[in-house]
Amino acid sequence: MNKEAMREFMGRFMEMTTGAAVLGVVAVADRTGLFRELQGQGPLSMDEIAQRSGFQPRYLEEILATLSAARIVVYDAEADTYALPEEHAACLADESSPYFLAGWSQMVPALYGAIPGVAKACREGGGVPFSEFGEDMIEGIARSNGPGTRLLLTRKWLPLMPDMVSRLESGIRVADVGCGAGAAALTMARAYPNSEILGYDVDASSLERARSAADEAGATNASFERIDGKAIPSDPGFDLITTFDVIHDVVDPLAVLGQIRSALRKGGCYLMVEPVAGDSLAENLHSAGALTYAMSTLHCMTQSLAHGGVGLGAAWGPQRAEQYCRDAGFTGFVRLEVPNPFNAFYRVEA
Ligand SMILES: C[S@@+](CC[C@H](N)C(=O)[O-])C[C@H]1O[C@@H](n2cnc3c(N)ncnc32)[C@H](O)[C@@H]1O
Repeated sequence: MNKEAMREFMGRFMEMTTGAAVLGVVAVADRTGLFRELQGQGPLSMDEIAQRSGFQPRYLEEILATLSAARIVVYDAEADTYALPEEHAACLADESSPYFLAGWSQMVPALYGAIPGVAKACREGGGVPFSEFGEDMIEGIARSNGPGTRLLLTRKWLPLMPDMVSRLESGIRVADVGCGAGAAALTMARAYPNSEILGYDVDASSLERARSAADEAGATNASFERIDGKAIPSDPGFDLITTFDVIHDVVDPLAVLGQIRSALRKGGCYLMVEPVAGDSLAENLHSAGALTYAMSTLHCMTQSLAHGGVGLGAAWGPQRAEQYCRDAGFTGFVRLEVPNPFNAFYRVEA
């Protein structure tokens, strides 16, 4: 046995284990608002943080110790103070920041609940349906995808299709399929008041969140309906249809893509946003690839297989995405140049 190789592997494995455990404490800090209490405050003593947060001292001590050892919070041993640097606060405390990452601490632990079901399905087939992941998964998805979408969709992503932006400004019909909690639909509704935005999803709880967000925002040009992507209405049809992080999840991607094509009006276009991945395993042998495959095993693939679906998996690359679109009858397929570590953007046309 090569001891050096074993030591290297042990170190790497324990780093992953540490990340998995620390993420649980990050989830507690996120859920309790601790990061927001620390945001913008500079160094604070434990007593000051206890006063602000109302935490039980022993819990606070252990949580701050975890966060300090993990270098999320900076502990100054001489002054005996704790500080959340502004760069870290942008990722953990500021939900309006495009760099916000704390949604992952809600979503990843929710994946762990699927472990028994996925283990069973490995031998027996089937999978864990979306409805079994619970509210933390739904909220975790919304909080992971939402901040970037709200900030970048109309400022960076849609402007790569200038013809569509001018049509959106004039007023067109738009469908966001698999709209989840509605971030993309509501961002478009706000930016393009002359357009009508319809959000479709199969998940009732996500739609409830979308509807209450629309009420809160007073968005009168957005509405949400529980309709499967493979059955969205094609009359009167849509000028723009979008899917954000959806197609790899669905039971029958070809049927959904086919219906999107049928529901597009002449001259309309489809914006498909999917996780960034290469087309082969060999291209995805890095930590982002490991995250995508893990998310896929414990969520994306299994929830499709749960309903007898194809279980595409989250790491389908641009070539397969193009092939699926062509098989669904689309003829135009262009990858848009968006510097985004999580998502690939495709402009697809009939
Ligand atoms: C990963 S979530 C993404 C949600 C949202 N687009 C976002 O970016 O936050 C995938 C969504 O697709 C929805 N979905 C899955 N299959 C669907 C189908 N056949 N028709 C409509 N929505 C579907 C799920 O309910 C879920 O809300």
